[in-house]
Amino acid sequence: MAEATPYTLIDGRKISSDIKKEITDKVIERRQQGKKVPHLAIILVGDDGASQTYVDHKVKACKEVGFHYTMMRFADTISEDKLMKHIDQVNRDEDVDGFIVQLPLPQHISVERITEKIRPDKDVDGFTNRNFGSIVSKNPLLLPATPFGVMELLKRYKIETEGRNCVVVGASRLVGAPLSMMLVEEGRATVTVCHKYTKDLASFTRQADILVVAVGKPGIVTADMVKQGAVVIDVGTTRVEGPQFKNGYALKGDVDFNEVAPKASFITPVPGGVGPMTIASLLLNTLRATELRNP
Ligand code: GUN
Repeated sequence: MAEATPYTLIDGRKISSDIKKEITDKVIERRQQGKKVPHLAIILVGDDGASQTYVDHKVKACKEVGFHYTMMRFADTISEDKLMKHIDQVNRDEDVDGFIVQLPLPQHISVERITEKIRPDKDVDGFTNRNFGSIVSKNPLLLPATPFGVMELLKRYKIETEGRNCVVVGASRLVGAPLSMMLVEEGRATVTVCHKYTKDLASFTRQADILVVAVGKPGIVTADMVKQGAVVIDVGTTRVEGPQFKNGYALKGDVDFNEVAPKASFITPVPGGVGPMTIASLLLNTLRATELRNP
């Protein structure tokens, strides 16, 4: 059996907090120079508990860095047309620099149609096709927030990606697909994307110098699937409910942390790894959107 190595825990809370301090300083500087303070609007449809928690964290983060924010709530019975009209209004509101529509949306509303309605230069989640495509352009506009956060973690922990074997498990439109493109473009890595049709997943994951998992299935990556010394990034955050948990639920990653950590060189915990970085990226994108619109 391979010997356990001491691993480095990638502390997303610490990095996110560092980024928030950097943003706070920039906001103070903008204020002193008489420039516009960033303004983020958040649209929340329905009363999904997890979405409410995420949105609360986003509002708290805006307060921490000194951004203005607007919360817009709608009942889950709102029609797609009506929601489109509200988005149009926010698109045209000169004071709002960036906005997000919290997902998931109710079944009767098309995520694609809603997302595509957002002005790309205000799309601080980086969800629109324009921003997705801009990953492969020389001059990206607003990068998808979670993948941007993963790249930032790799950079700040000085984890080399160039020429390394990266395996991304999960090809979702919001995480796996954009992240694999960013690892190729910016990271100059050799990237393999695995998904639900992949046969013999472990034969791919075992080749990974850097393994990123973003599928939302708690514990699907076990120690036998990971190469000794690999960097392991767990994007999974599934709410698992149970009376034994404080608040009645716990957030679980896709990686069996206790088993995998002794084999890893670097690993992200859940919670406290990638999660806080999504919010840090959202703030960075909002600042960038403000700087683009109001230099
Ligand atoms: N739902 C879960 N994660 C996200 C996110 O990063 N942005 C939005 N808009 N909705 C989400």
